[in-house]
Amino acid sequence: MCGIIGYIGKKQVVPILIKGLESLEYRGYDSAGFVIQDGKNIKVIKKAGKIKELKKKIAKEKFNSHSGIAHTRWATHGKPSEINAHPHSDCNNKISIVHNGIIENYRFLKTKLIKKGHRFLSETDSEIIAHLIEEMPGKTLLEKVQLATKKLKGAYGILVISSDYPKEIIVVRNGSPILLGLGKKENFVASDAAALLGYTKKVIYLEDGQIAQLKANSYQIIDFSKKIVKSKINEIDWSLGEIEKCGYDHFMLKEIHEQPQSIRDTIAGRVRENNVKLGGLRNRFDELLNAENIILSACGTSWHACLIGEIFFEILAGKAAEVNYASELVSTVKPKFPPHSTMLVISQSGETKDTDLAIQKMQAENMSVFGICNVVGSTIARRCGAGIYTHAGPEIGVASTKAFTTQIMALAMMAFNLGDKDGFLDQNFSKKWQKGFLKEIIKIPEQIEEILKTDKEIKKLAKLFYKKNNFLFLGRGINFPVALEGALKLKEISYIHAEGYPAAEMKHGPIALIDENIPVVFIAPKNDAVYSKICSNIEEVKARGGIVIAVATKGDRYIKKIADHIIYVPETSWLLTPILNTIPLQLLAYYIAVLKGCNVDQPRNLAKSVTVE
Ligand code: AGP
Repeated sequence: MCGIIGYIGKKQVVPILIKGLESLEYRGYDSAGFVIQDGKNIKVIKKAGKIKELKKKIAKEKFNSHSGIAHTRWATHGKPSEINAHPHSDCNNKISIVHNGIIENYRFLKTKLIKKGHRFLSETDSEIIAHLIEEMPGKTLLEKVQLATKKLKGAYGILVISSDYPKEIIVVRNGSPILLGLGKKENFVASDAAALLGYTKKVIYLEDGQIAQLKANSYQIIDFSKKIVKSKINEIDWSLGEIEKCGYDHFMLKEIHEQPQSIRDTIAGRVRENNVKLGGLRNRFDELLNAENIILSACGTSWHACLIGEIFFEILAGKAAEVNYASELVSTVKPKFPPHSTMLVISQSGETKDTDLAIQKMQAENMSVFGICNVVGSTIARRCGAGIYTHAGPEIGVASTKAFTTQIMALAMMAFNLGDKDGFLDQNFSKKWQKGFLKEIIKIPEQIEEILKTDKEIKKLAKLFYKKNNFLFLGRGINFPVALEGALKLKEISYIHAEGYPAAEMKHGPIALIDENIPVVFIAPKNDAVYSKICSNIEEVKARGGIVIAVATKGDRYIKKIADHIIYVPETSWLLTPILNTIPLQLLAYYIAVLKGCNVDQPRNLAKSVTVE
């Protein structure tokens, strides 16, 4: 989850590196630095803190360089500090590297290198890479790097420059995302497309086990056994505008308000009057059709989407389904699944290490894996080989919002498509119901727009409760995952302790927490089969002096009698209520965090994409 960027070409490199770091800052931001070719030598500048600290440090410096690499860090080994910031160099300051990922065998390698006389300055795993390259034989930098990478274990995206080879940058990808940006008489490299926008849209996604030699007017890619690789040139379809905040105070608020459009973009060309068409599945659809069990897996917010998808596959496609944390799948010695199981992973970034490892584990068991991702060409998207993209556009805020609602929509479309193709829908639902459900899907964007207009009421609620230290979020059935998501949103950006619970579970212990100091948010859609039970749970909380905030269905008058505060959302199919019910919870978390003065887009300790185990 660090950000890396490199440039070689005709322009001055420092402004490009700084701008690139700023666009990557959301990926990790406890320190930053860069190294440039400085005529005869290489010059390293780095600083703890945010990019603005680095900019302050170089404000009075003059640079004249056309090649360099840079890094913004999210610490995995060694505390956030200037000495641990990247780049890291070899003993003679002739080779310098930036690294994203984890070198698992760094202690072993470091001990060997120290015995050979190498001197280390930092506590990081990354620093050993520069000394290892220094140690390698080889007539070219490419050869030295290729030999060094053979000794590394772990996940890494590495950029290397050397004063002995001033006209090139060497790029290595093995487990952490890296893409090359191709320009005219200039070339770029970055861990994320966001850093390339505004310069080029032509990109090559490096694959694991590949090394690129980047020059101003050319590039070549080899694999770890030195075989030349021919790679496809892709076009990034994001605009620079999509990356900027467009007048909102935070990326998160912008992305909450983009949800009508991101849902429209996700269903466009897919949801029609009578059916759903999903191109990304076509050549492997039979694997889904023949699956008797669908294993959904992800992390964080995407895992909450899996919990909703499980219900979609059971209700709309008659498939048995189960949900696993990706990290737990990887930790389970020998996960046992029924025969004819198929895996479906969900990942906004497409780079979450835990999820990628879960895929590899299940593919090693010959299980077919499909993916729902938001980033085209991401590691997980390419490893699955089939699935569907949520067209949510770049999600910069660390707290996932539009990705979550588009993931739910993608799951609904996938389950409907599956149930339609294998006849389950016709056996269990009338054509009228099916058409009505698709109509409800098409109405969702305008209904989200309606909810977004209640922004001010939610801001008022936030003012009442932003000083509270604990929150409970309670839901049942298909809205239990919404309770989990509401709690996660609040805790990850406001640092208030919040728990999501199945509402009925309260009486088995947690109800002891209830008093006048803990706001309890209930998700209480009227047309849900469990509505009356939710109302009883609200009464149980009220009877113990609790404060109840209810997310309820527009027109529901009964709820007014039992809840203290109500946020209304429009009525939709009970299966789609999670999408609408999530919006007010996103806004509530956002406004509470802003009132608390938290860094909403870059919450402490978090990174947008967790590319380490
Ligand atoms: C959600 O707000 C968090 N940022 C986090 O839980 C995130 O959903 C999780 O890390 C999974 O990320 P992914 O969807 O990119 O795989």
